[in-house]
Amino acid sequence: MTPAQDKPEGTTRRGFASWVLMFLGIAAGYGLGALHFFKYLVPLRQERPSREMFIGTLDTFPVGATRTVRDPRGQEIMIARITDDAADRSRNFRALSTKCPHLGCKVHWEAGQDRFRCPCHEGIFDKQGRAVSGPPAQENKDLLEFEVRVRPETGAVYVMVAEEARYGA
Ligand code: FES
Repeated sequence: MTPAQDKPEGTTRRGFASWVLMFLGIAAGYGLGALHFFKYLVPLRQERPSREMFIGTLDTFPVGATRTVRDPRGQEIMIARITDDAADRSRNFRALSTKCPHLGCKVHWEAGQDRFRCPCHEGIFDKQGRAVSGPPAQENKDLLEFEVRVRPETGAVYVMVAEEARYGA
């Protein structure tokens, strides 16, 4: 038998096709494994669902007034009406977390000084929630801010809050 008869043409093509399929299978397997490993290392940012939480109406919320509410996760939010600009009612309000971004103590509004103050380590924030002195300013950590929406047709005021975590996150 000659070498050509040892490896008939059909067998060689079948063998080549098997190698190609095996290579593709291995590449797909390793590719998927690498993708899962990458997703484990760098989890994709998932938008947490949010919803509107009613906090009052324009006519019951005069300029200078503040109101404190808790979001569905228990986080306390202080809402202050800072202007009466009719051009953009949602900008009439400022909604800030009362949790200090340093170590989590509760910050308090000091109306006389137009600022928020954290009593734990004398963290001071301006009325926009920007850290101006103390450990939060050194760490460049402002108060967490929430979006406020106002329905022009009804004057209803809402703060946007994150939905309660579903899986204990
Ligand atoms: S916890 Fe607020 S300044 Fe430290």
